[in-house]
Amino acid sequence: MTPQTAGPREQAPAIGDVRLLVDGLRVDARDGATFPTVDPATGAVLAHVAEAGAADVDLAVAAARRAFDDGPWPRATPAERSRILWRLGDLILEHAEELAALETRDNGKTYASALAVDVPGAAGLFHYMAGWATKLEGTTIPISAPGTFHTYTRREPVGVCGLIVPWNYPLGQSAWKVAPALACGNTVVLKPAEQTPLSALRLGELALEAGVPAGVLNVVPGFGHVAGAALVAHPGVDKVAFTGSTETGRAIIRGATGSIKKVSLELGGKSPNVIFDDADLPAAIQGAADGIFFNQGEVCTAGARLYVQRGVYDEVVEGVADAARGLRVGDGFDPATEVGPLVTAEHRDVVRGYVDAGVADGARLITGGDEVGDAGWFLRPAVFAGVRPEMSIVREEIFGPVVAIQPFDDVDDVLRAANDSPFGLAAGVWSSDASKVHRMADGLRVGTVWANCYGVFDAAMPFGGVKQSGWGKEMGHAVLSDYTETKTVCIRTAVPS
Ligand code: NAI
Ligand code: MG
Repeated sequence: MTPQTAGPREQAPAIGDVRLLVDGLRVDARDGATFPTVDPATGAVLAHVAEAGAADVDLAVAAARRAFDDGPWPRATPAERSRILWRLGDLILEHAEELAALETRDNGKTYASALAVDVPGAAGLFHYMAGWATKLEGTTIPISAPGTFHTYTRREPVGVCGLIVPWNYPLGQSAWKVAPALACGNTVVLKPAEQTPLSALRLGELALEAGVPAGVLNVVPGFGHVAGAALVAHPGVDKVAFTGSTETGRAIIRGATGSIKKVSLELGGKSPNVIFDDADLPAAIQGAADGIFFNQGEVCTAGARLYVQRGVYDEVVEGVADAARGLRVGDGFDPATEVGPLVTAEHRDVVRGYVDAGVADGARLITGGDEVGDAGWFLRPAVFAGVRPEMSIVREEIFGPVVAIQPFDDVDDVLRAANDSPFGLAAGVWSSDASKVHRMADGLRVGTVWANCYGVFDAAMPFGGVKQSGWGKEMGHAVLSDYTETKTVCIRTAVPS
């Protein structure tokens, strides 16, 4: 359980430049401020990172503004942008081990999962969006106004995009936003989460190396209420894209009202995962455990509410509890580790507080929920049964390895329960009956339904929530409408006779 003292952690490349990236240059914060970023497995400070304040955000926005208004990127041919973004995807893969090690150090997640999921996922976004750069077509429109017209639409970039990302997938979430923004010809100020600034800074460097011109992608680590808020309120920013908590999403909407910015939001979730008695049970049990415990449960789509049809309830509860007990909690660099530390001590305490609340509310804690290790912020995966719908462990986003399991009787019953949430991000269904799967897919008020699988993401699949889980879609071609404006051009070619 104690973190390793020798191995890949020590073999990982040194952490590079941790200054801001503004206009293609590495710079200190104007006031010289820095903040520590910490290794969640050990509590050790990894680096003192330049901390952007409002003045630094101003400079970054000005650089992005110049790059947009006068620079080569929005004026490059689509094929040029495509080639550069493809090259950036390749560079991410070429630096896979370095980037994965940064994610593990900064966030705590397992190195194996960072290498298998986060890094190829980020590269995949750039490769996929590189293809769209050359396909942003408008339409010609036959209109009925008197006279003769040539009417068409153009897809144009929105302008300067302020991108604010969370700490659970620092590189992946950056890629989800940066790739479509750049493909559409926008320029960007990226603010990584204060808990995990390292990989975004490296992404900015790799972008320069790939040929993204200076000023097109600026990276400003800093705190949400300072750098984040300054970016959201900045009159030089045309659009804000945010992923994080629903509460901060509300603050972003308020902050963006002054300048009526375009806003897209990917917010919290409390996703239902539904197992019917006709499911392939071993697969469903494994899928339910992976769906909540992968990435320490620090996943917006985590299958945190598990609904099990009554006939197989006991078997599934036992199966998920066994899976939880079997998960090895430890240092993310240890190849045997399956669950790393939570991102910060504060967050571990929040998750631990939910476990305590569940117990206090009378839920049955079958396994886990206890802290382990003498350094770092480790928590054993927790499984609750005997829960009631009004308990906080059922209603609120915990963002940790805690699952609440409830029985149900039939499709109507479980749809009602599954939809009884302010969130609507994703849901899972496990059944061998295709029509049941389709009824569920139809009835679930969520942005993504996974059936007989869970947590499958692909650059080509649109992702985003309904209800309080957000506005807009990421990935797929659906995201392009969030990063482009449609301009209508109406030309009279002959006056009516
Ligand atoms: P957060 O939503 O406050 O932070 C996410 C990002 O927003 C960070 O980059 C942060 O610096 C920035 N931010 C914070 N306040 C801001 C403001 N006023 N203006 C502009 N930017 C701001 O999330 P936090 O505090 O890290 O985590 C709290 C909880 O949020 C978690 O326990 C989890 O429940 C939820 N969360 C959900 C995520 C998701 O993907 N759905 C991701 C991260 C957190
Ligand atoms: Mg950190």
